[in-house]
Amino acid sequence: MMARLAIVCAAVLVSAASVAAQARGPRATRFVDSLVARMTLDEKLGQLTQVPGRWGDTGPTVPEGGQEEIRRGQVGSFLGVFGAGYTRRMQEIALQSRLKIPLLFAHDVIHGFRTIFPVSIAEAASWDPEAVERSARIAAIEATAAGLHWTFAPMVDIARDARWGRIVEGAGEDPYLGSIMAAARVRGFQGTDLSASNTMLATAKHFVAYGAAEGGRDYNIADVPEVTLRDIYLPPFHAAVDAGARSVMASFNEVAGVPVHASERLIDGVLRAEWGWNGLLVSDWTGVLELVPHGVAADSAAAGVLALRAGVDVDMVSRIYLNKLSPLVRSGRVAMRDVDAAVRRVLHAKYELGLFTDPYRYSDTTRERQTLLAADHRAAARELARKAIVLLKNEGRTLPLAKSLGTIAVIGSLATDGRSTNGNWTAAGRPEEAVTVLDGIRRAVPSSRVVYARGADSATADTSGFAEAVRVAREADAVVLVVGEHQEQSAEANNRAFIGLPGAQEGLVRAVRATGKPVVVVLMSGRPLAIASFADSVPAIMNAWYLGTEMGNAVADVLFGDANPSGKLPVTMARTAGQMPLYYNHKNTGRPPVVDQKYTSKYIDVPWTPLYPFGHGLSYTTFTYRNLRLSAPTMRPGDTLVVSVDVTNTGDRAGDEVVQLYIRDEVGTLTRPVKELRGFRRLTLQPGETQSVSFPLGAKDLAFHDSALDLVIEPGFFRVYVGTSSERVEEARFELVDARRCTKRVLPRAVPRFTWPVKGRAGGVTCR
Ligand code: BGC
Repeated sequence: MMARLAIVCAAVLVSAASVAAQARGPRATRFVDSLVARMTLDEKLGQLTQVPGRWGDTGPTVPEGGQEEIRRGQVGSFLGVFGAGYTRRMQEIALQSRLKIPLLFAHDVIHGFRTIFPVSIAEAASWDPEAVERSARIAAIEATAAGLHWTFAPMVDIARDARWGRIVEGAGEDPYLGSIMAAARVRGFQGTDLSASNTMLATAKHFVAYGAAEGGRDYNIADVPEVTLRDIYLPPFHAAVDAGARSVMASFNEVAGVPVHASERLIDGVLRAEWGWNGLLVSDWTGVLELVPHGVAADSAAAGVLALRAGVDVDMVSRIYLNKLSPLVRSGRVAMRDVDAAVRRVLHAKYELGLFTDPYRYSDTTRERQTLLAADHRAAARELARKAIVLLKNEGRTLPLAKSLGTIAVIGSLATDGRSTNGNWTAAGRPEEAVTVLDGIRRAVPSSRVVYARGADSATADTSGFAEAVRVAREADAVVLVVGEHQEQSAEANNRAFIGLPGAQEGLVRAVRATGKPVVVVLMSGRPLAIASFADSVPAIMNAWYLGTEMGNAVADVLFGDANPSGKLPVTMARTAGQMPLYYNHKNTGRPPVVDQKYTSKYIDVPWTPLYPFGHGLSYTTFTYRNLRLSAPTMRPGDTLVVSVDVTNTGDRAGDEVVQLYIRDEVGTLTRPVKELRGFRRLTLQPGETQSVSFPLGAKDLAFHDSALDLVIEPGFFRVYVGTSSERVEEARFELVDARRCTKRVLPRAVPRFTWPVKGRAGGVTCR
């Protein structure tokens, strides 16, 4: 045990240290220090100021008066301003400022820049970190060619409540999958060398517990126990930081009564001191100013003081640092060393990006022309889009559809909606460049007759299109019914109290189903919708999310069997919003639900179970799991236990399976989840082929935070589950034998003003 946890800890320190060394080499430090020494207070506050661009006829530009502000050194960075030629012109102006400090251009490049990839929740549904890394890499290649240096991605918030609109932007409900996706995206955006002209700063956001918004209402408080914060919400941030993320964004919400933008404990404490992270902390949009309505600052100046003191380096949009802090620094209420620390982090980022060597290296019109929407980018987007589709149901092998069908009816407004095809946060993506589902189907089956009816849209109760929809359905041999949410029914501030099909679409499903034709439902949405009202009555359902530029092609690939679906749900699909929050890794309670026992934890009007569980997703072939075995019946804390299983493709076509490994700690000093994902593997199996898959389990996989907030592993029995979803699993059991209870304690490094008490010795492991 001691060896194992010591190794885990050392690895964390080494990776943080190497990132630190890269960022803070002696040359960089000398350069930055000499620059800081020459800066006036106003120039310093300018570097901490991020100004939003505005969208005009010629694209995104700096706002009115912005060019003068650049010349005066009052802006450190812009957000939402890009374009190779334009950013070059703005850098030229920055070089006319007294100290000639180049600008940073930032933007939300979330799932592609011009070539749009699947929305983040869909990418997570691929359970394919290499493909997700490539998606982020391509996004960075395109975005940097257009002058961008900094993306506000990845969003790594865990979301357990599908009412929350921003569930679309993250990797779902699980901290393990979320951590793997977070690291993959960071690697993709940042590459291995930040000074290369096609890599950019990645931002892990929104730190932290933003997805725990009470009631699923965006910006609401996160009422999260500290152990849950550490076991569920913090791990993807830690993974992003370990992967080298150079930037983190504070979240709008409060945690335990303290808005994160004012939380010294979380920013300077957990992030910087405990984790040894030294990157750039950016506020969210007006997040500094919002400390006033939160009720922890009496006015904007006080808000600025709190945020800077907590460790927020860059003030996005509020302009409070620039406009209010100067007299407070002069009067001593704000320490100059805090200002300097923040300025240093901004300048170090600019240095790392190579901007002091060549401020124009990212603004390359030729590269911009050549890379945006390049053929290989589109091909990668199509490939990932196919993998992101989750086949929820396929009764009687309704799918794949035969390409020889005479007439196919495509019904639903989303089938032709280019904006929703791309999803939200589309950077420079264009709806007219997206292949819609209708386009994709038409291309895939040129010899079939494809008839289309709008039927209903997702925003209104208008049923006037039903008759036409029923008419085309009757003419057809099969119906592809495209329903769900349009892209503004999920994402920021788009929370829903009811998460079924919006508008008149449920009625449309009923009307079309009544024709008796084979109906395939294609769901487009940014959240797991509650579809219990019709799921039983249609034979096939695929969850297609918003898949981006190549959506229509990818959906057609799967519909007609050119691709075999392999996506798995990264979230639980509830029956109704009333079950929220619903997630697979819940606690057992003292009265776990039992069907015919009233006084157990359930509802009287709906089953407690999900409609489709976390990890669920079907294929056109079938897989069987056999021979689950453990390398030993017992494990000592320092051991690696190997869990193996044989997976066979028992169907008649090749397919990918995502093999999932879960554990359960049977008895703990704190209650433990009924299942926790601890491994997965994507396999390609030919018909009849068997592969043996092995997962190593080590101490870190069994660890959790106890009530003293120590990371512990405790002796006793563990169950191991391996299977095709969180519910369809094989089961084994082992015992962790070491009579002692082992703890890894972390002491923060010395950080000025850091006061939050954390016990123990750095990296130390104790067993008792
Ligand atoms: C969102 C962030 C985003 C920022 C800048 C905010 O409203 O919460 O996720 O990065 O805007 O666009």
